[in-house]
Amino acid sequence: MLARAIAEVLSPRHQIVAASHAEADITDERAMREILEAAQPDAVVNAAAFTDVDACETQQELAFRVNAEGPRNLASICRDSDIPLMHVSTDYVFDGEKADPYVEEDEPRPLSVYGRSKLEGEREVGKHLDRCWIVRVCGVFGPYRNNFVSLVAESGRKGQPLRIVKDQRLAPTYTLDAAMGIERILRRGPYGLYHLTNQGFTSRIEFTREILRQAGFHHVLVIPISSEETMRPARRPRNSQLENAHLKREGIELLPAWEDAVRRYLGHLSAGNS
Ligand SMILES: NC(=O)c1ccc[n+]([C@@H]2O[C@H](COP(=O)([O-])OP(=O)(O)OC[C@H]3O[C@@H](n4cnc5c(N)ncnc54)[C@H](OP(=O)(O)O)[C@@H]3O)[C@@H](O)[C@H]2O)c1
Repeated sequence: MLARAIAEVLSPRHQIVAASHAEADITDERAMREILEAAQPDAVVNAAAFTDVDACETQQELAFRVNAEGPRNLASICRDSDIPLMHVSTDYVFDGEKADPYVEEDEPRPLSVYGRSKLEGEREVGKHLDRCWIVRVCGVFGPYRNNFVSLVAESGRKGQPLRIVKDQRLAPTYTLDAAMGIERILRRGPYGLYHLTNQGFTSRIEFTREILRQAGFHHVLVIPISSEETMRPARRPRNSQLENAHLKREGIELLPAWEDAVRRYLGHLSAGNS
């Protein structure tokens, strides 16, 4: 989802070599080396990951192979070819116990296999390469695949009641806005760790109600439940609010408010796009 948005948003101004999973497996170091040596890019952006958070609990080996070894492969190839690497990571590196939004300096403490594998990926990149940006996003939605916003809008259209966790706060991230932010960091941002989300924080319940309101389905029933009631295999942090502190320090333009991003994405969906 995010990789395609990055390719789409950056392609008018940059020459992009985009590769799908079938074309480039980041766990295959030799193949990746051949691809990158042939492309000779000015920078590499890695948005590939094993992102099924619950499946990671039972497929631990695959999670670490894709989310930790994969980025390590890319970092060591980039180091050998002196190419900077941007690696995308997640709010799930945190345990969510902090009362306030998380800044980049906060200590990660993941609750799930997915979160641990992504944290190890961040560390592998940092260990092998100086010229790297780690960019953490959160609650991602946008074109090309189902996501929280599209699923809530679809349930609204069908008039189905929604059972939504009442104890999670987040900073939603629209892929097309994140791609703009990624371009700004690539152009202007010093290497390092960045939180990159749309502006404003919300609870899952408020997020759901705003999607339904904007989509014209405010009559749809939202039933608040606890995280435990979802019975999902992987624990999620209760607080996934990522403060974009590094971007602010660098004076790099922030992403628009999340409500505005929802409006634009719903417009994209109602125009018949996926
Ligand atoms: N979605 C969210 O809410 C969210 C939140 C926080 C952070 N993130 C992070 O944001 C980044 C982008 O996530 P996304 O939402 O765009 O995920 P996505 O839609 O699941 O895309 C991940 C892509 O990685 C590919 N992939 C999996 N294993 C690979 C491998 N070994 N080699 C090459 N490609 C591989 C997948 O291909 P297949 O489908 O063919 O396997 C898929 O195309 C990830 O780093 C993720 O951890 C996402």
